[in-house]
Amino acid sequence: MVHCVMTTPSRVTLTQHILRKQTEHPGATGQLSSLLTQIGVAGKLIQAQVRRAGLIEIWGATGDTNVQGETVQKLDRIAQDALVDVLKYSGAVAGMASEEEHDSIEVPPALAGDYIVVFDPLDGSSNIDANVSIGTIFGIFKRKDPHEVLRTDFLRPGREMIAAGYIIYSSSTVVVYTDGTSVDGFTLDPAAGEYFLSRPNIRMPDKTKVLSVNECNEPYWPKWVKPYVETIKGRNDHDKRRVSSRHIGSLVSDFHRNLLYGGVFLYPADSRTNKGKLRLLYECNPLAFIAQAAGGYASNGLGPILDLQPTALHDRATLIIGPKADVELAERMVKEYA
Ligand code: AHG
Ligand code: MN
Ligand code: MN
Repeated sequence: MVHCVMTTPSRVTLTQHILRKQTEHPGATGQLSSLLTQIGVAGKLIQAQVRRAGLIEIWGATGDTNVQGETVQKLDRIAQDALVDVLKYSGAVAGMASEEEHDSIEVPPALAGDYIVVFDPLDGSSNIDANVSIGTIFGIFKRKDPHEVLRTDFLRPGREMIAAGYIIYSSSTVVVYTDGTSVDGFTLDPAAGEYFLSRPNIRMPDKTKVLSVNECNEPYWPKWVKPYVETIKGRNDHDKRRVSSRHIGSLVSDFHRNLLYGGVFLYPADSRTNKGKLRLLYECNPLAFIAQAAGGYASNGLGPILDLQPTALHDRATLIIGPKADVELAERMVKEYA
């Protein structure tokens, strides 16, 4: 008798994982698989430059400011160009919107595919020159019309995304990706030049162990934030440390740690601007989509981030993201202190 032994491959690559997921969707054209593989390629190109910063002339600012009036770092520009060049020729993308471009970018019709990609090419720019973790954040939508790229391809609630993820350039280069069902993490093996599945099915712990907020903004916080922060801190007592403060100042890295360890990140509206700082389309929405798929939640204090209707590409929002119970606690405190 012949026994058929099923073995689980110990080394699953990002591409293999994506192709396997594709088989769960009959009728899939393979474009999304190709798009995700190409985002992985852009990540390799960006990380190669990030790891050489300081050796070649890519530290520091370009001398330009972006559409948001922020200083453009040389690596912001390098990351932007890598993503646009790779995605333009992926055969899967019709349009892109980026933190670093005022308007959306349309792919010439002859090269265009079915998807719309929004991204923050490099998040955490202020940390670059100090070798602190930074990353790329992306969200993917299906295009609405096969012939034209529409304004509403970009200005739509995050809930309509079909996939989202980020790449972290840190002690290792890690891709975290979700199609809305599971969240999986892949680590780049620099010797092989390939990403391997390192954290299958990531779930965000229910308990808040970490609190991440820029406390120096306290004078400008809305009324609910201080009592909220005090409530979380108040869980510590003499005998037991239950929560700890960790704030990197790179949203993507703060979120990654909180996703793995259980933590709330918040960036409330600021009374100087009456707005949050973080951008809805390419910062808040992709991370909200990942949080939700991992069992967590993201809110602007009034309701789900993923339900917000953007009015412009670079809209900003209050972001509270982490374990569901504590994000809902923030929503209750917003009401209480209104
Ligand atoms: P970016 O580098 O893409 O402009 O984003 C920076 C963001 C985010 O990563 C971080 O959480 C936040 O700015 C930090 O802002 P503060 O310095 O105001 O705390
Ligand atoms: Mn950013
Ligand atoms: Mn950025």
